[in-house]
Amino acid sequence: MTTTSLTALEEIQAREARHVLQTYRRAPVAFVRGQGVRLYDSDGREYLDLLSGIGVASLGHAHEGLARAIADQAQTLLHTSNLFYHPLQGQVAERLSALSGLSRVFVCNSGSEAVEACLKFARRYWYTKGETRPEVIALEESFHGRTMGALSVTSDEHYRAPFAPLVPGVRFVPVNDPAALLAAVSSSTAAIIAEPVQGEGGVRPLTPAFAAAIMNACERTGALLIADEVQSGLGRTGSPFYARAIGLKPHLISIGKALGGGVPIGAALISEQVAETISFGDHGSTYGGNLLACRAALCVMDELIDGGLLAHIGRVGRHMEQRLHEIASAHPIVKEVRGAGLIWGLELSREAAPVVPAALARGVVVNRTADTVVRLLPPLVITADEIDEGLAGLSAALGAVEADGATA
Ligand SMILES: Cc1ncc(COP(=O)(O)O)c(C=O)c1O
Repeated sequence: MTTTSLTALEEIQAREARHVLQTYRRAPVAFVRGQGVRLYDSDGREYLDLLSGIGVASLGHAHEGLARAIADQAQTLLHTSNLFYHPLQGQVAERLSALSGLSRVFVCNSGSEAVEACLKFARRYWYTKGETRPEVIALEESFHGRTMGALSVTSDEHYRAPFAPLVPGVRFVPVNDPAALLAAVSSSTAAIIAEPVQGEGGVRPLTPAFAAAIMNACERTGALLIADEVQSGLGRTGSPFYARAIGLKPHLISIGKALGGGVPIGAALISEQVAETISFGDHGSTYGGNLLACRAALCVMDELIDGGLLAHIGRVGRHMEQRLHEIASAHPIVKEVRGAGLIWGLELSREAAPVVPAALARGVVVNRTADTVVRLLPPLVITADEIDEGLAGLSAALGAVEADGATA
């Protein structure tokens, strides 16, 4: 009898198939190492990362400063609990307040938790005011996370249906339809929740006209505005927060992803008006804002604000936009280019799924979302040359998919 030895990837796949809950349909690649915008798989193959772990590895991989900060913190103190003070959580909150203009911060561990906190704080606001406001207005094509509250304001039936009944009182309106939004918001609306750039929904920035309608509806009815900037926030679009860039003035902002550069952390940013209505014990988290996560977030914010990363994103973002329009002109299957800064979607005239393996085969990591959209969320530190290199691979992948379609 001959025994066949498994490759490193096959061994990983076999073990996962036996023991990991099968909720993710993974691409057949195992990344084991990274450096800057490069990733390396278990066979030593190099890839250019245009996805950064869905917008998380903001400083790229194995960033020297972040690695040093995390190692130092691990040797000093990792966790104590929110029963006590430590020196870092206040610093994170101070920096986020300065960046957002919202005076208070609740630190948690993920984007979903940040959304969950915003929804709870909106409820608490109206409870303290003694007003019954049972409704939340959310947008079609939205994605806010997988916990029950966040899922309840997420529109995709595929995600929702198996988990009904969800939190009641959510009404969905079509995105970028000012009239529909104005008609839906009333004195029963506790909050409107919107992603300034819808990420999972296909990289759809809200239009300034729609943003104006949201502001109008909030002013008219007193409804609170929650901007979910988990994907679009913290410089991703070239602005600290995209909500402000399109004229929104949210009472609450949820963030996550880029904040820890890969260390799990999220946060709800809260206006003083809402914060005043919240009391001791209303919300909490065991891990939320521990020393490790805060140290990582401080390192990311140092780079973003003091290190000039925000200005860099503006510059390379314009370069990327131009290159993507060139790609669109060269490839008939690309119908539209949407996004800002370093978040982009290519809307295709066909399923986008085959582009992902075609790009991986050419050493480029991209993602498909909303069926027909190729999504690009590179590390925020990517250079113009690296963008050119990655997009050359993507263009070749689009060409291969086009050729396949032509012969199909
Ligand atoms: C806009 C938005 N909100 C919330 C979430 C949920 O974040 P997490 O997966 O960290 O819970 C995501 C994740 O993709 C997101 O894009």
